[in-house]
Amino acid sequence: MPKSQVEPALAGSVTEKYHRSEVNLVNRWTALGNWFEDRNSAGLDPYQKYSRGPIQPITRGAYRDGRPFEGVNFASQDYLSLSTHPKIVEAAISAAKEYGVHSAGSAALMGNTQLSIDLECQLSEYLNYQYVTLFTTGWGAGYGVVKTLLREGDHVVIDNLAHACLQEAAVDAKAHIYKFPHLSVPAVERRLKRIRQHDKTNGILVITESLFSMDSDTPDLINLQLLCREYNAVLLVDCAHDLGAIGTDGKGVLGEQKIWGKIDVLMGSFSKTFSSVGGFVACNNAGLRFGLRAACGPSTFTNAMGPIQAAVILASLSIVRSDEGKHRRRLLHENTLLLRQKLIGSGFTVIGRPSPIVPMIVGSTPLARLATKFVIEYGGIVNLVEHPAVARNRDRWRLQVMADHKAEHIERMVDIAVRARDSALDCLDDTANF
Ligand SMILES: Cc1ncc(COP(=O)(O)O)c(C=O)c1O
Repeated sequence: MPKSQVEPALAGSVTEKYHRSEVNLVNRWTALGNWFEDRNSAGLDPYQKYSRGPIQPITRGAYRDGRPFEGVNFASQDYLSLSTHPKIVEAAISAAKEYGVHSAGSAALMGNTQLSIDLECQLSEYLNYQYVTLFTTGWGAGYGVVKTLLREGDHVVIDNLAHACLQEAAVDAKAHIYKFPHLSVPAVERRLKRIRQHDKTNGILVITESLFSMDSDTPDLINLQLLCREYNAVLLVDCAHDLGAIGTDGKGVLGEQKIWGKIDVLMGSFSKTFSSVGGFVACNNAGLRFGLRAACGPSTFTNAMGPIQAAVILASLSIVRSDEGKHRRRLLHENTLLLRQKLIGSGFTVIGRPSPIVPMIVGSTPLARLATKFVIEYGGIVNLVEHPAVARNRDRWRLQVMADHKAEHIERMVDIAVRARDSALDCLDDTANF
């Protein structure tokens, strides 16, 4: 690669390339588009890849310009490998035959089907909440519940790594925002105390996740819930990544911490373990449930979940709760332990706790971009998370493990990662010596 092509593609970040100073709103994006084209020409744009077959441990895919690749797949969030499971595929086909393919309306009117109502009932029994409200995405569930709960003047105490759907809703709700250092319970307590010293009338929402999606770590939910009770605050937990995937019974971090059914408001996503799209909010207040149906943008003013999605999630839930689910979680857990152990053994830094997310620090942005180019070329499919989405020099591959991975896939991934890192280091030396 000539230096003139590589250098611009190795430097810069998304935020720098968006030109706020441009008066024309559309033209503000021009530099960003050009930069991604430069990256693509240099083979350094791993974003917007797509699959060209089923999501499996070996998957065929393509870059956004259509160039194909194939490899061991650690870039898909199908933790229990349900997306190709015969029972799930059959559930989708039967639902289409029985209900057609469209919800044809908002859940506030007549968009729900018998299948989505069954799903809400089964989830509320499983999760141990009186009410579960479905959304068409987990993003909408998170954004919608935060925006519905808060009014101007209220307070949000939010983990600084909480998902974008939660952060954006807090800003849009015009509440007072207090970010706290990742996972710090003492920092939450200090903020709650300070807020209640001067404001006894407005509401406080404390927001965290049960398993953080970039760092694979977990807060102390019991103490957060106790603090919320003490200061008359409400705790909202996002369990998108662990529900169904962690623990012998699949009850995730809530099960591990013995706080199942006891968090004030719980939200989750079906896009990881439940082989579909969609999300939910669980609560015990009939009025809030009504608000989520009748006065919540991403639920009220949009079409309801379609029958195929509801059928797929119902079938996934039934597997999650079965002995087969237990078996798949055991395989998943063994795979995550093996991947972590092999990566660490090869000199990589792996952060967080064992979970289907294995965050592997690659390093600086140039190194990470080059290593990602090589890893895919050598047959390892990964997702790159760059600064500023993560801290500087902590650019990482967010490897995602599936129950169907075998030891040989994991070993192959680690071998490829080692070769890719070495090639990237050589390449960086070469570009420095041009
Ligand atoms: C923690 C967390 N919450 C919410 C979401 C949004 O979920 P969905 O993909 O179902 O929209 C995601 C997915 O990116 C997530 O990681």
